[in-house]
Amino acid sequence: TGGVITIDPGYKNTGSCESGITFLDGEKGILRYRGYSIEELAEKADFLEVAYLLIFGELPTKEQHDKFHADIKKQSVVDDDVRKIVDAFPKSAHPMGVLSSLTSALTAFNPSSVNVDSEEDMYNSVVKILGKFPVLVAWTLRKKHGLPLDYGDNNLGYVENVLKMMFKQPNQEYVQNKVIVDALDKLLILHADHEQNCSTSTVRIVGSSHAGLFASLSAGISALWGPLHGGANQAVLEMLEAIKEDGGDTKKYMAKAKDKNDSFRLMGFGHRVYKNFDPRAKIIKTSADEVLGDLGVEDPILDIAKGLEKEALEDSYFVDRKLYPNVDFYSGIIYRAMGIPTDMFTVMFALGRLPGWIAQWREMRLRKEPIGRPRQLYIGETHRSFVPMSKR
Ligand code: SDX
Repeated sequence: TGGVITIDPGYKNTGSCESGITFLDGEKGILRYRGYSIEELAEKADFLEVAYLLIFGELPTKEQHDKFHADIKKQSVVDDDVRKIVDAFPKSAHPMGVLSSLTSALTAFNPSSVNVDSEEDMYNSVVKILGKFPVLVAWTLRKKHGLPLDYGDNNLGYVENVLKMMFKQPNQEYVQNKVIVDALDKLLILHADHEQNCSTSTVRIVGSSHAGLFASLSAGISALWGPLHGGANQAVLEMLEAIKEDGGDTKKYMAKAKDKNDSFRLMGFGHRVYKNFDPRAKIIKTSADEVLGDLGVEDPILDIAKGLEKEALEDSYFVDRKLYPNVDFYSGIIYRAMGIPTDMFTVMFALGRLPGWIAQWREMRLRKEPIGRPRQLYIGETHRSFVPMSKR
């Protein structure tokens, strides 16, 4: 009615929340996990160390790190019936849809993971999913490529084991490539958490109804799938490929991105929070040069990406709207150099974001937060009386 809108200030949980896990400053391009800068963590820590930091709040001692990894290894198998679910999917199924379904299905095989009244129950659910999720990631890839659904090797490091499960070929010895292991470890750290983004907010709000951790994570995976969110890393590669096929004419695509009558957006650009460079994008861009150089990969797509970035940073449309490359702009180029198929890029994002989702879910449960219930601004019809159909 155009009147004054008052929202009860005492109303709890209107969709925003207090959290002590990740700090972002969008204007200054700052990202910190539990107070540690992303630059330092990407350079000096490993992914499991960062997972422990995000979930429990402190960098682990060696003993804590080793026990955490040992507890995770004990959980690195899934019920054999899960294979039947994987087999039931068509090969054409998008890996994110398969992964979300398999993650939710884990509840059926681990019913105790739903009631987490004690911190011990919570810890058991956390190590279960950290142990089983890499198996689901690998099986999602292997299903598409008709490869046997194997297990990994518990003598390996966490990231080494992920790569071996994904890429080991039948009857062939799998040889680790340290460049790829280190690059993936860094990429997973860079994706590990990001405050209250779309998928993390989904995990928190589903978890706030006391649905189990696995069901909450499954919902988060579905949210991440979208091309405006984690699905952007796949969309970036598809966009760069299209530009390459179109003769590398970046100006044409810049014009499309600025045309209000064209739904095309420059994928990998812009961010809801960062109105400066996404600090992760800077690190990934440097890493892309290093990894492709170390692997001896010449990829014209990287040159097209750099040309597009240069043009956008000099174009008033992008500068005025503070549209900079985000985490998704360069990550796919590295995944591609590693031999990861394009439709698995967002699955790799989910693998990286897993500890962040877990940490945010655990914080919400430990703080005994009320069920999420965002309010709305009603903009519909005012009250009116029913009209019989004969009179409509
Ligand atoms: C992630 O939240 C997180 O933290 C997410 C994430 C994480 O780690 O969890 O960082 C991961 O999701 C990164 C974002 C990946 N998505 C993309 O790269 C998709 C392309 N980007 C956009 O769709 C967009 O920039 C968003 C969705 C990322 C942000 O959207 P906003 O903040 O809602 O921006 P907006 O829609 O309000 O746009 C503001 C203006 C508009 O123009 P005007 O109406 O002012 O004329 O900027 C334009 C938009 O049209 N714009 C773009 C653009 N992004 C915004 N124009 C062209 N290309 C783009 N990419």
